[in-house]
Amino acid sequence: MNKNITVLPGDGIGPEIVAEAIKVLDKVAEKYGHKFEYTYVDIGGCSIDKFGVPITDEGMEKCKNSDSVLLGAVGGPKWDNCPPAIRPEKALLAVRKELGLFANLRPTKLFPQLADASPLKQEIVGNGIDLLIVRELTGGVYFGQRKTEEVNGELVATDIMPYSESEIERIGRVAFETAMKRGKRLASVDKANVLDTSRLWRKTMHKLSGEYPEVEYSDILVDNTAMQLIKNPTQFDVLVTENMFGDILSDEASMLTGSIGMMPSASLSSGTLGMYEPIHGSAPDIAGMNIANPLGTILSAAMMLRYSFDMAAEADAIERAVNEVLDESYRTGDIMQEGCKKVLCNEMGDLVAERI
Ligand code: IPM
Ligand code: MG
Repeated sequence: MNKNITVLPGDGIGPEIVAEAIKVLDKVAEKYGHKFEYTYVDIGGCSIDKFGVPITDEGMEKCKNSDSVLLGAVGGPKWDNCPPAIRPEKALLAVRKELGLFANLRPTKLFPQLADASPLKQEIVGNGIDLLIVRELTGGVYFGQRKTEEVNGELVATDIMPYSESEIERIGRVAFETAMKRGKRLASVDKANVLDTSRLWRKTMHKLSGEYPEVEYSDILVDNTAMQLIKNPTQFDVLVTENMFGDILSDEASMLTGSIGMMPSASLSSGTLGMYEPIHGSAPDIAGMNIANPLGTILSAAMMLRYSFDMAAEADAIERAVNEVLDESYRTGDIMQEGCKKVLCNEMGDLVAERI
Protein backbone atom coordinates (compact mmCIF):
# COMPACT_ATOMS: atom_id res chain seq x y z
CA MET A 1 0.00 0.00 0.00
CA ASN A 2 1.06 3.60 -0.62
CA LYS A 3 0.50 6.01 2.26
CA ASN A 4 1.19 9.70 2.71
CA ILE A 5 2.15 10.57 6.26
CA THR A 6 2.43 14.14 7.49
CA VAL A 7 5.18 14.28 10.08
CA LEU A 8 5.11 16.97 12.76
CA PRO A 9 8.35 16.57 14.75
CA GLY A 10 7.68 19.70 16.83
CA ASP A 11 9.88 20.92 19.67
CA GLY A 12 12.32 19.62 22.27
CA ILE A 13 12.91 15.88 21.93
CA GLY A 14 10.18 15.70 19.22
CA PRO A 15 12.55 15.52 16.23
CA GLU A 16 14.75 12.82 17.85
CA ILE A 17 11.96 10.45 18.81
CA VAL A 18 10.08 10.95 15.54
CA ALA A 19 13.23 10.08 13.56
CA GLU A 20 13.35 6.71 15.34
CA ALA A 21 9.67 6.01 14.62
CA ILE A 22 10.29 6.78 10.93
CA LYS A 23 13.25 4.39 10.96
CA VAL A 24 10.93 1.65 12.21
CA LEU A 25 8.17 2.56 9.72
CA ASP A 26 10.71 2.39 6.88
CA LYS A 27 11.69 -1.08 7.99
CA VAL A 28 8.03 -2.12 8.05
CA ALA A 29 7.56 -0.71 4.53
CA GLU A 30 10.58 -2.62 3.24
CA LYS A 31 9.57 -5.86 4.92
CA TYR A 32 5.88 -5.80 3.99
CA GLY A 33 6.12 -4.14 0.57
CA HIS A 34 4.50 -0.80 1.41
CA LYS A 35 5.50 2.70 0.42
CA PHE A 36 5.32 5.41 3.08
CA GLU A 37 5.94 8.97 1.93
CA TYR A 38 6.60 11.65 4.49
CA THR A 39 5.80 15.35 4.36
CA TYR A 40 7.40 17.33 7.16
CA VAL A 41 5.54 20.29 8.66
CA ASP A 42 6.67 22.62 11.47
CA ILE A 43 4.39 22.78 14.50
CA GLY A 44 4.60 24.54 17.87
CA GLY A 45 7.50 26.68 18.98
CA CYS A 46 9.69 25.98 15.94
CA SER A 47 6.86 27.23 13.72
CA ILE A 48 6.35 30.33 15.89
CA ASP A 49 10.07 31.10 15.49
CA LYS A 50 9.98 30.67 11.70
CA PHE A 51 6.54 31.93 10.74
CA GLY A 52 5.10 33.73 13.78
CA VAL A 53 2.28 31.19 14.12
CA PRO A 54 2.26 27.71 15.74
CA ILE A 55 1.13 26.12 12.47
CA THR A 56 0.71 27.70 9.04
CA ASP A 57 -2.41 27.33 6.90
CA GLU A 58 -0.39 25.36 4.35
CA GLY A 59 0.85 23.08 7.12
CA MET A 60 -2.71 22.47 8.25
CA GLU A 61 -3.79 21.69 4.67
CA LYS A 62 -1.00 19.14 4.37
CA CYS A 63 -2.22 17.42 7.54
CA LYS A 64 -5.79 17.34 6.21
CA ASN A 65 -4.73 15.94 2.86
CA SER A 66 -2.61 13.10 4.19
CA ASP A 67 -3.49 9.54 5.11
CA SER A 68 -2.27 10.05 8.64
CA VAL A 69 -0.28 12.36 10.91
CA LEU A 70 2.63 11.48 13.20
CA LEU A 71 3.47 14.01 15.93
CA GLY A 72 6.41 14.32 18.31
CA ALA A 73 5.72 16.97 20.94
CA VAL A 74 5.19 20.73 21.13
CA GLY A 75 6.14 23.52 23.51
CA GLY A 76 8.91 24.54 25.85
CA PRO A 77 9.87 27.32 28.26
CA LYS A 78 11.02 29.53 25.39
CA TRP A 79 7.40 30.02 24.27
CA ASP A 80 5.71 30.05 27.68
CA ASN A 81 5.07 33.77 27.51
CA CYS A 82 3.62 33.86 24.02
CA PRO A 83 0.13 35.40 23.82
CA PRO A 84 -2.62 32.70 24.16
CA ALA A 85 -3.57 32.94 20.48
CA ILE A 86 -0.15 31.81 19.27
CA ARG A 87 1.00 29.44 22.01
CA PRO A 88 2.47 26.13 20.73
CA GLU A 89 -0.45 24.16 22.28
CA LYS A 90 -2.86 26.20 20.17
CA ALA A 91 -1.63 24.37 17.06
CA LEU A 92 -2.32 21.01 18.64
CA LEU A 93 -5.89 22.01 19.49
CA ALA A 94 -6.37 23.48 16.01
CA VAL A 95 -5.20 20.28 14.31
CA ARG A 96 -7.51 18.19 16.52
CA LYS A 97 -10.47 20.41 15.67
CA GLU A 98 -9.80 20.91 11.94
CA LEU A 99 -9.15 17.23 11.32
CA GLY A 100 -12.19 16.25 13.39
CA LEU A 101 -10.12 14.07 15.73
CA PHE A 102 -12.80 13.62 18.34
CA ALA A 103 -11.71 10.28 19.77
CA ASN A 104 -8.48 10.07 21.70
CA LEU A 105 -7.37 6.57 22.67
CA ARG A 106 -4.80 6.41 25.47
CA PRO A 107 -3.81 2.89 26.38
CA THR A 108 -2.10 2.40 29.73
CA LYS A 109 -0.19 -0.83 29.75
CA LEU A 110 2.28 -2.07 32.27
CA PHE A 111 5.04 -3.89 30.41
CA PRO A 112 5.88 -6.86 32.67
CA GLN A 113 9.58 -6.21 31.98
CA LEU A 114 9.15 -2.76 33.56
CA ALA A 115 6.92 -3.74 36.49
CA ASP A 116 9.46 -2.40 38.99
CA ALA A 117 9.12 1.08 37.50
CA SER A 118 5.56 1.42 38.81
CA PRO A 119 5.35 3.54 41.97
CA LEU A 120 2.52 1.27 43.15
CA LYS A 121 3.08 -1.80 45.30
CA GLN A 122 3.43 -5.16 43.58
CA GLU A 123 0.25 -6.38 45.30
CA ILE A 124 -1.69 -3.71 43.38
CA VAL A 125 -0.01 -3.90 39.95
CA GLY A 126 1.34 -7.45 40.23
CA ASN A 127 -1.18 -8.87 37.75
CA GLY A 128 -0.34 -6.17 35.21
CA ILE A 129 -2.28 -3.11 34.13
CA ASP A 130 -4.01 -2.92 30.78
CA LEU A 131 -6.60 -0.20 30.56
CA LEU A 132 -7.65 2.19 27.86
CA ILE A 133 -8.91 5.73 28.28
CA VAL A 134 -11.19 6.99 25.53
CA ARG A 135 -11.09 10.77 25.80
CA GLU A 136 -13.46 13.09 23.92
CA LEU A 137 -11.07 15.48 22.18
CA THR A 138 -12.86 18.22 20.26
CA GLY A 139 -15.53 19.44 22.66
CA GLY A 140 -16.14 20.63 26.18
CA VAL A 141 -14.30 23.36 27.99
CA TYR A 142 -11.29 23.16 25.65
CA PHE A 143 -13.38 24.54 22.81
CA GLY A 144 -16.17 26.49 24.55
CA GLN A 145 -16.23 30.27 24.66
CA ARG A 146 -13.83 31.89 27.07
CA LYS A 147 -13.30 35.46 28.17
CA THR A 148 -11.73 37.59 30.85
CA GLU A 149 -13.57 40.82 31.61
CA GLU A 150 -13.74 43.46 34.27
CA VAL A 151 -16.82 43.24 36.49
CA ASN A 152 -17.33 45.57 39.44
CA GLY A 153 -13.71 46.64 39.42
CA GLU A 154 -12.14 43.17 39.29
CA LEU A 155 -11.26 40.68 36.60
CA VAL A 156 -13.64 37.77 36.08
CA ALA A 157 -12.75 34.86 33.82
CA THR A 158 -15.22 32.43 32.26
CA ASP A 159 -14.69 29.16 30.34
CA ILE A 160 -17.81 27.52 28.99
CA MET A 161 -18.10 23.71 28.79
CA PRO A 162 -20.69 22.78 26.16
CA TYR A 163 -21.57 19.24 25.05
CA SER A 164 -24.28 18.20 22.63
CA GLU A 165 -26.01 14.81 22.60
CA SER A 166 -24.51 13.99 19.21
CA GLU A 167 -20.98 14.73 20.41
CA ILE A 168 -21.50 12.48 23.42
CA GLU A 169 -23.10 9.75 21.37
CA ARG A 170 -20.28 9.57 18.81
CA ILE A 171 -17.54 9.25 21.45
CA GLY A 172 -19.74 6.80 23.35
CA ARG A 173 -20.03 4.63 20.28
CA VAL A 174 -16.25 4.55 19.85
CA ALA A 175 -15.92 3.53 23.50
CA PHE A 176 -18.52 0.74 23.31
CA GLU A 177 -17.05 -0.57 20.04
CA THR A 178 -13.56 -0.50 21.57
CA ALA A 179 -14.80 -2.29 24.69
CA MET A 180 -16.34 -4.99 22.47
CA LYS A 181 -12.88 -5.65 21.01
CA ARG A 182 -11.26 -5.82 24.45
CA GLY A 183 -12.54 -7.00 27.82
CA LYS A 184 -16.18 -5.88 27.24
CA ARG A 185 -16.21 -3.67 30.32
CA LEU A 186 -16.82 0.07 30.04
CA ALA A 187 -16.83 2.69 32.79
CA SER A 188 -18.17 6.11 31.87
CA VAL A 189 -16.59 8.86 33.96
CA ASP A 190 -18.53 12.02 34.78
CA LYS A 191 -19.45 14.53 37.47
CA ALA A 192 -23.20 14.04 37.21
CA ASN A 193 -23.70 15.01 40.85
CA VAL A 194 -22.81 18.61 39.88
CA LEU A 195 -22.58 19.31 36.14
CA ASP A 196 -25.35 19.50 33.55
CA THR A 197 -22.94 18.39 30.83
CA SER A 198 -22.29 15.26 32.89
CA ARG A 199 -26.01 14.57 33.39
CA LEU A 200 -26.51 14.69 29.63
CA TRP A 201 -23.38 12.58 29.21
CA ARG A 202 -24.73 9.90 31.55
CA LYS A 203 -28.22 9.89 29.99
CA THR A 204 -26.75 9.53 26.50
CA MET A 205 -24.37 6.75 27.56
CA HIS A 206 -27.23 4.86 29.21
CA LYS A 207 -29.24 5.03 26.01
CA LEU A 208 -26.27 3.69 24.03
CA SER A 209 -25.59 0.91 26.51
CA GLY A 210 -28.92 -0.63 25.46
CA GLU A 211 -27.37 -1.26 22.04
CA TYR A 212 -24.40 -3.08 23.55
CA PRO A 213 -25.88 -5.64 25.94
CA GLU A 214 -22.63 -7.62 25.93
CA VAL A 215 -20.69 -4.72 27.43
CA GLU A 216 -20.72 -4.56 31.20
CA TYR A 217 -21.40 -0.84 31.66
CA SER A 218 -20.96 1.33 34.76
CA ASP A 219 -21.00 5.02 35.71
CA ILE A 220 -18.30 6.41 37.94
CA LEU A 221 -17.72 9.91 39.25
CA VAL A 222 -14.46 11.52 38.20
CA ASP A 223 -13.17 12.13 41.73
CA ASN A 224 -13.80 8.52 42.64
CA THR A 225 -12.10 7.45 39.41
CA ALA A 226 -8.98 9.37 40.41
CA MET A 227 -8.97 7.42 43.66
CA GLN A 228 -9.80 4.00 42.16
CA LEU A 229 -7.01 4.32 39.58
CA ILE A 230 -4.52 4.24 42.45
CA LYS A 231 -6.39 1.92 44.78
CA ASN A 232 -7.47 -0.78 42.36
CA PRO A 233 -6.48 0.00 38.74
CA THR A 234 -7.01 -3.56 37.48
CA GLN A 235 -10.79 -3.17 37.93
CA PHE A 236 -10.82 -1.07 34.73
CA ASP A 237 -10.88 -2.17 31.10
CA VAL A 238 -12.13 0.81 29.03
CA LEU A 239 -12.89 4.24 30.51
CA VAL A 240 -14.71 6.91 28.50
CA THR A 241 -14.82 10.54 29.51
CA GLU A 242 -15.04 14.16 28.41
CA ASN A 243 -12.09 16.23 27.24
CA MET A 244 -10.70 17.78 30.43
CA PHE A 245 -11.37 14.83 32.75
CA GLY A 246 -9.63 12.67 30.16
CA ASP A 247 -6.64 14.99 30.04
CA ILE A 248 -6.16 14.73 33.79
CA LEU A 249 -6.98 11.05 34.28
CA SER A 250 -4.76 9.94 31.40
CA ASP A 251 -1.73 11.58 32.98
CA GLU A 252 -2.57 9.91 36.26
CA ALA A 253 -3.07 6.54 34.58
CA SER A 254 0.21 6.78 32.67
CA MET A 255 2.05 7.09 35.96
CA LEU A 256 0.71 3.73 37.16
CA THR A 257 3.26 2.18 34.84
CA GLY A 258 6.04 4.50 35.98
CA SER A 259 7.24 4.95 32.43
CA ILE A 260 5.47 7.76 30.61
CA GLY A 261 8.08 7.44 27.84
CA MET A 262 6.45 4.17 26.77
CA MET A 263 2.88 5.41 26.28
CA PRO A 264 1.43 5.95 22.78
CA SER A 265 -1.84 7.58 21.77
CA ALA A 266 -4.18 7.80 18.81
CA SER A 267 -6.55 10.62 17.93
CA LEU A 268 -9.18 9.41 15.50
CA SER A 269 -11.78 10.99 13.24
CA SER A 270 -14.90 9.41 11.78
CA GLY A 271 -12.83 8.37 8.75
CA THR A 272 -9.41 6.75 8.62
CA LEU A 273 -7.38 9.93 9.11
CA GLY A 274 -5.80 10.02 12.54
CA MET A 275 -3.00 11.68 14.46
CA TYR A 276 -0.58 9.59 16.50
CA GLU A 277 1.73 10.83 19.23
CA PRO A 278 3.41 9.75 22.44
CA ILE A 279 1.62 11.11 25.49
CA HIS A 280 4.75 12.61 27.03
CA GLY A 281 5.81 16.18 26.33
CA SER A 282 8.75 17.86 24.62
CA ALA A 283 11.17 17.39 27.58
CA PRO A 284 13.28 20.46 26.73
CA ASP A 285 15.79 19.63 29.48
CA ILE A 286 17.06 16.61 27.54
CA ALA A 287 16.44 17.87 23.98
CA GLY A 288 19.24 17.25 21.50
CA MET A 289 21.07 14.86 23.83
CA ASN A 290 20.00 11.64 22.09
CA ILE A 291 18.89 10.11 25.41
CA ALA A 292 15.08 10.34 25.09
CA ASN A 293 12.95 7.18 24.98
CA PRO A 294 11.56 6.77 21.45
CA LEU A 295 9.36 3.77 22.31
CA GLY A 296 6.20 5.82 22.98
CA THR A 297 6.50 7.30 19.48
CA ILE A 298 7.37 3.96 17.92
CA LEU A 299 4.30 2.41 19.58
CA SER A 300 2.24 5.36 18.31
CA ALA A 301 3.40 4.50 14.79
CA ALA A 302 2.15 0.97 15.46
CA MET A 303 -1.25 2.40 16.41
CA MET A 304 -1.23 4.36 13.14
CA LEU A 305 -0.73 1.16 11.17
CA ARG A 306 -3.48 -0.57 13.12
CA TYR A 307 -6.16 2.15 13.17
CA SER A 308 -5.56 4.29 10.08
CA PHE A 309 -4.03 1.80 7.63
CA ASP A 310 -5.67 -1.43 8.76
CA MET A 311 -2.25 -3.12 8.89
CA ALA A 312 -2.69 -5.33 11.93
CA ALA A 313 0.18 -7.72 11.18
CA GLU A 314 2.58 -4.82 10.70
CA ALA A 315 1.42 -3.18 13.95
CA ASP A 316 1.87 -6.51 15.75
CA ALA A 317 5.39 -6.74 14.33
CA ILE A 318 6.34 -3.37 15.86
CA GLU A 319 4.82 -4.23 19.23
CA ARG A 320 6.54 -7.60 19.21
CA ALA A 321 9.88 -5.96 18.36
CA VAL A 322 9.50 -3.52 21.26
CA ASN A 323 8.79 -6.43 23.60
CA GLU A 324 11.84 -8.31 22.35
CA VAL A 325 14.11 -5.33 22.91
CA LEU A 326 12.80 -5.02 26.48
CA ASP A 327 13.16 -8.77 27.02
CA GLU A 328 16.78 -8.44 25.92
CA SER A 329 17.23 -5.83 28.69
CA TYR A 330 17.88 -2.80 26.51
CA ARG A 331 16.75 0.40 28.26
CA THR A 332 16.91 4.14 27.69
CA GLY A 333 17.83 6.21 30.74
CA ASP A 334 14.24 6.89 31.87
CA ILE A 335 13.47 3.17 32.28
CA MET A 336 16.99 2.02 33.21
CA GLN A 337 17.16 -0.78 35.80
CA GLU A 338 20.04 -2.51 37.50
CA GLY A 339 21.61 -5.19 35.36
CA CYS A 340 20.16 -3.78 32.12
CA LYS A 341 21.99 -2.35 29.10
CA LYS A 342 21.64 1.40 28.74
CA VAL A 343 21.20 2.63 25.16
CA LEU A 344 20.77 5.99 23.43
CA CYS A 345 17.65 7.15 21.63
CA ASN A 346 18.96 6.28 18.14
CA GLU A 347 20.31 2.92 19.33
CA MET A 348 16.87 2.03 20.69
CA GLY A 349 15.37 2.86 17.29
CA ASP A 350 17.97 0.64 15.57
CA LEU A 351 17.30 -2.23 17.96
CA VAL A 352 13.55 -2.14 17.29
CA ALA A 353 13.99 -1.73 13.51
CA GLU A 354 16.40 -4.71 13.37
CA ARG A 355 13.75 -6.92 14.98
CA ILE A 356 10.95 -6.12 12.51
C1 IPM B 1 -2.50 16.40 26.12
C2 IPM B 1 -1.88 17.72 26.45
C3 IPM B 1 -2.66 18.80 25.73
C4 IPM B 1 -4.08 18.76 26.24
C5 IPM B 1 -2.07 20.22 25.91
C6 IPM B 1 -0.63 20.26 25.42
C7 IPM B 1 -2.90 21.25 25.22
O1 IPM B 1 -1.83 17.91 27.82
O2 IPM B 1 -2.53 16.03 24.92
O3 IPM B 1 -2.93 15.71 27.04
O4 IPM B 1 -4.39 19.32 27.30
O5 IPM B 1 -4.91 18.14 25.58
MG1 MG C 1 -2.48 16.25 28.95
